[in-house]
Amino acid sequence: MRTDTPPVGEARPREGFARPLPDDAVAIVPVRNVVLFPGMVIPLTVGRERSRAAAQEATRLQRPLGVLLQSKPEVEEPGQDDLHWVGTTATVLRYITAPDGTHHAICSGIKRFRVLQFLEGYPFIAARVQAIEDPESIDTDIEGRAVNLKERAVEVLTLLPQVPAEIVATLNAVEGPARLSDFIAGLMDISAEEKQSLLETFDLKTRLDKLLELLSHRIEVLKVSREIDERTRESIDDSNRKHLLREQMRTIQKELGEGEEGAADLAELEKAIAEAKMPEEVEKQARKELKRLERMPEAAGEYSMVRSYLEWLTELPWAAEAGPPVNIAEARRVLDADHYGLEKVKRRILEFLAVHKLNPSGKSPILCFVGPPGVGKTSLGQSIAKATGRKFARVSLGGVHDEAEIRGHRRTYIGSLPGNIIQSIRKAGTRNCVMMLDEVDKLGMGGFHGDPASALLEVLDPEQNSAFRDNYLGVPFDLSGVMFICTANVLDTIPGPLRDRMEVIELPGYTAQEKLQIARRYLVPRRLEATGLKPEQCEISDAAIAKIIDEYTREAGVRNLEREIGNVFRNVAVRIAEGSVQQVRIDPDDLPQILGPRKFEAEVAMRSGLPGVATGLAWTPVGGDILFIEAARMPGSGRLILTGQLGEVMKESAQAALSLVKARSTELGIRAESLEKADIHVHVPAGATPKDGPSAGVAMFVALASLLTGRPVRSDVAMTGEISLRGLVLPIGGVKEKVLAALRAGITNVMLPERNRRDLEDIPAEARKQLKFVWMERVDDAIAAALSPTA
Ligand SMILES: Nc1ncnc2c1ncn2[C@@H]1O[C@H](COP(=O)(O)OP(=O)(O)OP(=O)(O)O)[C@@H](O)[C@H]1O
Ligand SMILES: [Mg+2]
Repeated sequence: MRTDTPPVGEARPREGFARPLPDDAVAIVPVRNVVLFPGMVIPLTVGRERSRAAAQEATRLQRPLGVLLQSKPEVEEPGQDDLHWVGTTATVLRYITAPDGTHHAICSGIKRFRVLQFLEGYPFIAARVQAIEDPESIDTDIEGRAVNLKERAVEVLTLLPQVPAEIVATLNAVEGPARLSDFIAGLMDISAEEKQSLLETFDLKTRLDKLLELLSHRIEVLKVSREIDERTRESIDDSNRKHLLREQMRTIQKELGEGEEGAADLAELEKAIAEAKMPEEVEKQARKELKRLERMPEAAGEYSMVRSYLEWLTELPWAAEAGPPVNIAEARRVLDADHYGLEKVKRRILEFLAVHKLNPSGKSPILCFVGPPGVGKTSLGQSIAKATGRKFARVSLGGVHDEAEIRGHRRTYIGSLPGNIIQSIRKAGTRNCVMMLDEVDKLGMGGFHGDPASALLEVLDPEQNSAFRDNYLGVPFDLSGVMFICTANVLDTIPGPLRDRMEVIELPGYTAQEKLQIARRYLVPRRLEATGLKPEQCEISDAAIAKIIDEYTREAGVRNLEREIGNVFRNVAVRIAEGSVQQVRIDPDDLPQILGPRKFEAEVAMRSGLPGVATGLAWTPVGGDILFIEAARMPGSGRLILTGQLGEVMKESAQAALSLVKARSTELGIRAESLEKADIHVHVPAGATPKDGPSAGVAMFVALASLLTGRPVRSDVAMTGEISLRGLVLPIGGVKEKVLAALRAGITNVMLPERNRRDLEDIPAEARKQLKFVWMERVDDAIAAALSPTA
């Protein structure tokens, strides 16, 4: 019957999809390990591309789907030789997508069919089929067997514990011997191949006979276990009743072929409990649960819940190992070996470790690294773990808005788990780990599901964390030995009570020089190794790295820099692997060919130069940035128009700036009528920079003064500072980030409030060398420094 067409599993071009399916053909979904019988409703997983196409086609044509069991379940794309040729047609009642993303079709079996010929050229398996009808007339032979079958089935059901009453009712309601045989066959607990052979038994009488035999066997087994039951009960002595019951259960399980494993499993759990070094209270709880488990049949859904709970309990590191003593000199060596620069940060970390060493049980504050992405927060945390000989664990708090993610779910449903703190403790395998709580600033606010911040507070509070209660565990776990380190991009969004517990260490970002050094010492060797290149095979010049820093990245950290260096090396690796070259040297001129045209331009020169545009400096969570303030004038009635989605505070700055300019119009030489008959428009172009805060005041003032006097702003200056209506320049925050951003953008003169002069010492010496600073006390200082002299 098989034709010599190529295997249907072969991939076909999609144009075949348009070809109509012949009338006697169906689209086929191959399945593994399930057999669908006519009259039965079961969910089928439709995971494979071709299966989904088949289901879609059947729905489109409003025709039944063919369901075939794979004779080789391991084959991913079954061909005609990997499938049984007898199956069942089905209507799809409904599609559902499970929470884990898998698709299921709820199928209702209609009729047996036999494949006549597999068809090719469809994006799914298709076959011409012949339907197999069950006999219409029923003779007494069949009738008798059917009655017998029903009785036996009911008998089995009553012998089995925990069978829902509805099943018996449904069984009694099934009409006709054919339907009955299929219903029972579908229900029976036998292998898929055995079921397939029942499906392929077209002759109803033979099929009924086979089923009767199978059921009789099952009844025998169940009866034996009943007997054992009776026998044991006879000799029951109250004192060892429980023991006997357990014995009895084992015997039954053995009879059913499941016992051995179960017993071994329980013995292992018992051993694990004994060895887990749990505190007394916990051990008591564990043993109680183990007892429950012993009494439960393995097939019960609860069994696996209790079992995985016990696994959690036994695998948690309860024992308190004394952490290795902290060696400060060694810690310094590790920190220096892993990170370039960051002197102040390293010093604070060492101080922290020293205090920890002298007073291990003292309430040391929690370290919190704050800074833009890619400046080394995570990697410093890893170094601290290395330096103190502890394991490193990481918990990401970004987007956590449900308390249960931290504290776990109660054990009320299948699949509930401990929270991420306990999970990472288990992963670390010790209570003395360094645990990095990443992105505390992105922790969701308390709401409907309880407040994650308050759960976290409990984790971090030394008064409470020695008895931290995870909802899933239900018993206290001691977190006091964990060294917690938090990271964040910004400080302001960290909930207040949390921030109070923290010792904040800021990492503001690197200058181009520092980046070059980091690249030379760390990123280049690391990327070389990752691409499998030997240092002598590829050399990259400092000038080339500098060009990557300037023209292909714009960031406070070094993450993109590392990525671009990786891109360069991959390109080299390909060339060397091809054998076209032995050795490559990368110079600045080679970059455009590898990385494409430059990604960042010096924007400043492009934008400024016209009257009315000033360059401001902004602080952002990802480091500093420059921003442009543009002012324009048009005929009107003296209104101030503000655009660019400015925040309230920035709008007020603009108002204040305009008032200040008006107040100085005589000194600045602005004619009164140019203000009266005009509307002033201030715009801050879109960009990633948040546009609120008072620190753009000076830039607003300068932009307006420039517009109204017609004197352009010098293109090499950038400024930041708040203004008061009396014309004073007030101090602002984020000086280091802003100065570094100015440097990145190619600015040479930075105008800062006089009262920020004390922040100068934070600015890297090398940046100080390259920049000229103008310290402003009053807005008039800004005019003098920023506006070109000519009118
Ligand atoms: N001073 C430095 N010396 C050597 N390598 C560094 C330094 N700073 C950062 N790096 C390297 O830069 C990469 C990025 O750092 P890391 O992953 O620690 O950033 P992060 O601050 O945690 O960023 P995010 O906020 O995005 O998590 C790492 O490979 C790290 O080793
Ligand atoms: Mg990180």
